[in-house]
Amino acid sequence: MKLITTADMRQLIKRVGLEHFNKLLLEALQQDFSRWHEFQLSPRHATHYPHGVIELMPCADDRLYAYKYVNGHPRNTKQGKLCVVAVGMLAEVDTGYPLLMCEMTWLTALRTAATAALGAHYLARRESEVLGIIGCGAQSEFQVLALAGVCPLKAIRYYDLDGAAMAKFARNLSGRVPQLIACKSGAEAVQDADLIVTATAAKCQDRILNRSMIAPGTHIHAMGGDCPGKTELDPALLDQVKIVVEYQEQSMHEGEVQNRPDVTIHAELWEIVSGQRPGRENDHELTLFDSVGFALEDYTALRLVNRLAEEHGIGSESAMIPVLDDPKDLFGGLV
Ligand SMILES: NC(=O)c1ccc[n+]([C@@H]2O[C@H](COP(=O)([O-])OP(=O)(O)OC[C@H]3O[C@@H](n4cnc5c(N)ncnc54)[C@H](O)[C@@H]3O)[C@@H](O)[C@H]2O)c1
Repeated sequence: MKLITTADMRQLIKRVGLEHFNKLLLEALQQDFSRWHEFQLSPRHATHYPHGVIELMPCADDRLYAYKYVNGHPRNTKQGKLCVVAVGMLAEVDTGYPLLMCEMTWLTALRTAATAALGAHYLARRESEVLGIIGCGAQSEFQVLALAGVCPLKAIRYYDLDGAAMAKFARNLSGRVPQLIACKSGAEAVQDADLIVTATAAKCQDRILNRSMIAPGTHIHAMGGDCPGKTELDPALLDQVKIVVEYQEQSMHEGEVQNRPDVTIHAELWEIVSGQRPGRENDHELTLFDSVGFALEDYTALRLVNRLAEEHGIGSESAMIPVLDDPKDLFGGLV
C-alpha cells in the first residue's frame, strides 16, 4: 500500500504545480460528477459533539472504493490546532485490498476549492471580477486561487473577525492575485462583489450574509455551514437565490437549507455538470452553491493523487497488509 504523508503531498504539489494541480482536479471532478450514476453514494456518517463533529465519508464505483476520516472543530484554532484535519484511503474493489493511504488535510482544502470552482464555472457570471470572502482561515487561500482559475478575478475583498488571519491571508496571496482589499466588516467585503465565499467556522446559526448586502447577479459559495446547527446565511436569503447542493439527502441536514426545509432546491451539482438542469440563466439572478463537502469529491481527489504519485514516483510503500505464502496461514505469518 502506498503511503502519502504530508511531506509527500507538499512534494507532489511542488512537482505538479498548484495551478496545474487545481486544473487537473477540476477536470477530474467534472468527469466524475458527470458519471454520477456509476457511484454507490450515501450521506456521510457523522458523530456529533457539542463542540464539533467527526465524519466518515465513503464513495465507490465498480473499480475503486474511497473513504475519508475528517473532523470539524471550530474552537481548535484557539488551541493551536486546525479546525479541519483528514486522512483518506483508496482501495481496489476487485480484491478489497487498500492501494493508498493519504494525508487529506491539504487535499480536503484543495478538493473543496476545486469543487467551488466547478460550481462557479456553471453558476457565476463569466465576467466575475470581484471576489468577496468572509473568513480568512485555513481554507481561504485555496478557495481564492481555485476560483481565480475559472473567473477573471481582478480584486479580492476580504474580512475575518481575527486580524491575524487577515494578515496571513494577505501575506499568502500577495503577488498571486491582482488586488487585495482588506475590509472592516463582512458587509464591506461583499460590497459590489460578483462572487462571494463564506468560509467561517462557528458552531452556531450565524447570519453573516443577508439579501441587503448582495448585488444582483452575484454567485455565493457558502461552505462554512456544513453541519447540523452550523450555518452562515440569513435563512430568508434562501427564497431569493437559485440553490444548488451536492447531494440533497446529506445537504438537507448539513447545509444552509437545513434552516429552510420548505425551500426549493434547483439542482444537485451533478445535474448541472451533466447538462440535465441549467446553471446560471441570466446576469441578474442570485445563485448559491450550498456546499457541505461530499464523498465523491474525496474519491476524485484520492484517485488523482494516486495517479500523480505513481507518475512522479512520490510516496512510499508501507506494509499494512500481511503478505503470506499461504493466504490461509494468517496465524503462521504472525507467530
Ligand atoms: N463545504 C466543505 O466542503 C468544507 C470543507 C472544509 C471546511 N469547511 C468548513 O469551512 C469553514 C472554514 O474552515 P477553515 O478550515 O478555514 O476554518 P478556520 O477555523 O481555519 O477558519 C475560519 C475563520 O472564520 C473566522 N470567523 C468565524 N466567524 C466569523 C464571522 N462571523 N465573521 C468573520 N470571520 C469569522 C475565524 O476567525 C477564522 O479565521 C469551517 O466551518 C469548515 O467546517 C467546509
